[in-house]
Amino acid sequence: MNVGILGATGYTGIELIRILSKHPNAKITYLSSKHFESQLISEVYPGLDGYCDLILEGDDFKKAVATCDIIFSTLPHELTFEIGKMVVDAGKRLIDLGSAFRFDDFNVFKNWYGSNDDIEYDKFNKVYGLTELNREKIKNAQIVGNPGCYPTSVILALAPVLKNRVVTDKNIIIDSKSGVSGAGHEPKFSNLYSECNENTKPYNVAKHRHIPEIEQELSKIMQEEVKIVFTPHLVPMTRGILSTIYCNLKSDITLKEVYDLYQEFYKNDYFIKILKPRKYPSTKSVAGSNFCQIGFEMDEHTNTLIIMSVIDNLMKGASGQAVQNMNLMFGLPENKGLDIIRIFP
Ligand SMILES: NC(=O)c1ccc[n+]([C@@H]2O[C@H](COP(=O)([O-])OP(=O)(O)OC[C@H]3O[C@@H](n4cnc5c(N)ncnc54)[C@H](OP(=O)(O)O)[C@@H]3O)[C@@H](O)[C@H]2O)c1
Repeated sequence: MNVGILGATGYTGIELIRILSKHPNAKITYLSSKHFESQLISEVYPGLDGYCDLILEGDDFKKAVATCDIIFSTLPHELTFEIGKMVVDAGKRLIDLGSAFRFDDFNVFKNWYGSNDDIEYDKFNKVYGLTELNREKIKNAQIVGNPGCYPTSVILALAPVLKNRVVTDKNIIIDSKSGVSGAGHEPKFSNLYSECNENTKPYNVAKHRHIPEIEQELSKIMQEEVKIVFTPHLVPMTRGILSTIYCNLKSDITLKEVYDLYQEFYKNDYFIKILKPRKYPSTKSVAGSNFCQIGFEMDEHTNTLIIMSVIDNLMKGASGQAVQNMNLMFGLPENKGLDIIRIFP
């Protein structure tokens, strides 16, 4: 299939190229960039020399839609909405790595993203692309709103206990830590080496844009309104997310029973690894791979279950999951082109 990547030079775009240039069923035929238009992608990123040597085109998105079977967009939402309309008109398919198509209610999107767009949001045949939870719908979707990185780590970690209703809380406390690549390649003062190295800092406390996305999906899983207290932190590493989540349990359920419940819930999911009780995950265990590892501990003093999940934000948190979704949409095995062992150390 012919694949186009719009916004190919950013961190998620370049990760898509890393995966798709070795994918046996995909042929990258269109790449776009604003800053690097007319240059070879392998000149901008010399590590791609011999793997992907296409010229970066500008914003002729009509051409991209006309010539590709599937488009990946990493662009700002205003542009992605336009591309979404073109994709619908042309009967093609789109996976958006941004936030444009993640929401059920357009007003929620507008409130949190400050958008002035006025579009017929409900008319898009779109699916929230958390693969393990929406597999059947993704197969037939025309547009997939690929989840955010924090939401992927949090929703996968909480789905089994919410679905089985073994927690008492509907206000859940989540503490997440992300590597600096989560912010993309646009330069910002707060992401300078001298400000991130040997430093750890919370940011957007209680107001991060991933809050409504997480609450939307957790509420659907539990079938009642779930709210979260969410504190993200920037930590001095390039890739990786660790989410630590605290839940009060309903009854005297044991750690072994929690483990069995997770094993059962994810028994058919190649990319989800449930750790034995009292084994804790670390970001290095999944770096460069599409896996999510989930571990647990029980604080018996307060009857609190502590769930810890790790992903690589650019893989399962973005481009890896996007390719996992593409595989489903085109009837391919879910792990095609994605069976990559993590990089260590
Ligand atoms: N980074 C992560 O870990 C991660 C994880 C999950 C989801 N996401 C989401 O995925 C999206 C992309 O993230 P990223 O980290 O890849 O961002 P990024 O590194 O900043 O890359 C953004 C890309 O979009 C292009 N672009 C930006 N504004 C444009 C414009 N006005 N016209 C044309 N092209 C434009 C840039 O092109 P040029 O720079 O070449 O001009 C670049 O290729 C964001 O919505 C982000 O929230 C990111």
